[in-house]
Amino acid sequence: VVRRDGRLPGLRIVRTVWEMKSCSAEERGKGHTIGLVPTMGAFHEGHLSLIGAARRECSFVVASIFVNPTQFGPAEDYATYPRPFDDDVRRAGELGVDVVYAPSVEEVYPRGYETYLEPGPTGNILCGRSRPGHFRGVLTVVLKLFTAVSPHRAYFGEKDYQQLLLVRRMVKDFQLDVEVVGMPTVREPDGLAASSRNLCLSPDGRRAALGLSRALFRARLLVVEAGERDAAALKSKIISWLQQDRLCRSQLL
Ligand code: PAF
Repeated sequence: VVRRDGRLPGLRIVRTVWEMKSCSAEERGKGHTIGLVPTMGAFHEGHLSLIGAARRECSFVVASIFVNPTQFGPAEDYATYPRPFDDDVRRAGELGVDVVYAPSVEEVYPRGYETYLEPGPTGNILCGRSRPGHFRGVLTVVLKLFTAVSPHRAYFGEKDYQQLLLVRRMVKDFQLDVEVVGMPTVREPDGLAASSRNLCLSPDGRRAALGLSRALFRARLLVVEAGERDAAALKSKIISWLQQDRLCRSQLL
């Protein structure tokens, strides 16, 4: 039964770091295995698959919902990022999440906050090159989520593959006692990777975005069936396919 505030009985919403720490310590004390699904909310099928895996593999599941300002550049969509909090909480409850950890920005970054985690070279290529500072914000917040929730396992989507690699690197470099679990990308029926930001795409933007998955699938065929192993050749084929597509050319390149 969903209550008027959107919560399901049994689901707890935790707003502060110290309440989260004491809740986790209590659950660890009872012998529970804690699974964390870090999210910025606006749940889609990808999140649901992460929560499903955490539910199957862990006896206590925490989903964090925090739109992290430090991973957005000044010209990015922090202010307009979708925040359907009540819907997310309802779905979390239906999926058997035990705690939604949803701290405020001031709770995570109190006045005077000044310490950040700088990724190594893997953070400066690909997405890190076009979004300077993005992975510094991601790693900082993921480390803060890990210290607040103290999970045994944490679940990340392979959709954000560079993020997954950087989190694994951080866990290794800082010898953190967390198992990072990567889950396959979930796609919409037409091939588009499920993403909270799909809600923000215009019809042309959405069609253009599909060009990316089409090109990646074509490239995969070249690798799997034709045995292509030259990354530069694959990259130039992908770029030329995108350039041949009028929408991709105007929206993506
Ligand atoms: O992948 C995301 O949604 C975010 O980058 C994460 C890992 C929740 C950190 O804010």
